[in-house]
Amino acid sequence: MSELKGKSALVTGSSRGIGRAAAIALAKEGALVFVNYFNSEDKAREVAHLIKSGGGDAVAIQADVSKPGEVARMHKEVHDRVEGLDVLVNNAGIHQHLKSWDLKNEDWDEVIATNLTGVFGCSRAFIPDMIRGKWGRIVNVSSVIAYLGTDHEVHYAASKGGVVSLTKSLALELAPHGIRVNAIAPGYIDTDMVSFASKDEERHYLSKVPLGRLGKPSEIADAVVFLCSDRSSYITGQVIHVNGGLAML
Ligand code: NAI
Repeated sequence: MSELKGKSALVTGSSRGIGRAAAIALAKEGALVFVNYFNSEDKAREVAHLIKSGGGDAVAIQADVSKPGEVARMHKEVHDRVEGLDVLVNNAGIHQHLKSWDLKNEDWDEVIATNLTGVFGCSRAFIPDMIRGKWGRIVNVSSVIAYLGTDHEVHYAASKGGVVSLTKSLALELAPHGIRVNAIAPGYIDTDMVSFASKDEERHYLSKVPLGRLGKPSEIADAVVFLCSDRSSYITGQVIHVNGGLAML
């Protein structure tokens, strides 16, 4: 398949984990991929190199998505290479394992700035490109926690719930312009983000997952590709749950 031949895609936070898998998968579909990274330049270049050695095209691009000035610079750097962006995957995210009463204002602000304001800021920057091109795909990475809640990171849950609402509103705004906006709600996916869990905690989490295992980053990437492809041509404003049945809604 080369569904995205001639298109360009930016995946935020794609030097590792789910973002890395999504960048590689989109490149396999023919897209020129911008591999955004925060501070892991070597790893981002490795992803770009891997893509190029497989016959694709990719560019590593630094920006902290929580900082509007850096997003504006990234937008300019993307434009140095292409006329406009076609696909945006808002994947970058952080979490902090803290009880609500231990959260400092700065903790709250940092998580909201990255996970929610970052999604808005990157979308706002690249939407005009998509409107001009009369074609666009935005995929936002939310979380199952937006639906189920959590007993240890209310700020993360609030940010991911916000991503769901933002997704639906953007989908309504942008549908007339040929732009589809959807989200994915991953469950426990085997990346650095869940590496904080002890073996006991992991067993406890997995006991709640009907499919009984961690998900793989490539399983989220498959959903990203689906949402960017014509196979999802009548889907917008939706959240695809890729979480082993953890949330059945
Ligand atoms: P990860 O920690 O491996 O990857 C997160 C990526 O985001 C890293 O590359 C990191 O450098 C980047 N990042 C963080 N802050 C950034 C910033 N300010 N600017 C640019 N990049 C930044 O974790 P994972 O699992 O790959 O996470 C990807 C997304 O999936 C996140 O939004 C996360 O909340 C979400 N998710 C992950 C789940 C899991 O179980 N792993 C479950 C549900 C959602």
